[in-house]
Amino acid sequence: MIQKNSPLPIYYQLEEGIKEAIQQQELIPGEMIPSEREYAEKYGISRMTVRQALSNLVNDGYLYRQRGKGTFVAHQKIEQPLQGLTSFSEDMRSRGLEPSTRVISFTEVEASHDLAAKLEVEAGALLFELKRVRLADQLPMAYEMLYISKELAQGLTKEIAVNSIYDYVENKLGLKIQHGRQVLEASIARKTEAEMLEVAEGAPVLLIERRTTLDTNKPFELVRSVYRADRYKFTIDMERL
Ligand code: GLP
Repeated sequence: MIQKNSPLPIYYQLEEGIKEAIQQQELIPGEMIPSEREYAEKYGISRMTVRQALSNLVNDGYLYRQRGKGTFVAHQKIEQPLQGLTSFSEDMRSRGLEPSTRVISFTEVEASHDLAAKLEVEAGALLFELKRVRLADQLPMAYEMLYISKELAQGLTKEIAVNSIYDYVENKLGLKIQHGRQVLEASIARKTEAEMLEVAEGAPVLLIERRTTLDTNKPFELVRSVYRADRYKFTIDMERL
């Protein structure tokens, strides 16, 4: 994979070679890659050069380091289009991944003034407050905190929340979720979020706030989701304005 007489820098050739091996699945997510010394010996190049290539790949999210253990192949990020109002379950299934959910808590709370205004209910009205870790093929992807009016989401239980809420609301309750507004921000995992997502405290995450409305224009849910930035990237198609 290294051509010493090529005009391309050697660290770059190594980097591209490792990326190629990941794409060709010669290196599998979760697998430990050879050490700096092994690469250096194999290709007759300096460890400094190998270090530079590996650091770039770590920074770009292709590899990750585990202190005292080694460097491993990262899971490829999921590309999530920003157009289209879809559920987590639908998003994962459409990629051939198996969605699952850990319900952390399912409680009833009285709507504060702020929540009441956002969900267009009376202050003090009962809301379901639901905290869930969403997984794909058993790997934690997102941690969600959701508020939904009890009156709207009739009969919602913890058992239902283990599966798709959108599926329940649309196919069992016959409501139509029509519109959503989503705000995306970069952030870092706080202690609880880090535990839920199985990342280090301070790891990069993407915060997403979603408010959906039904076809009647009635606000339906208010959700704050924390997505692992090493597992997700968001895409959008744009037309020139
Ligand atoms: C995504 C959204 C949430 C929404 C959820 C519904 O995760 N970020 O706002 O509540 O999908 O997913 P499901 O129908 O799988 O419960």
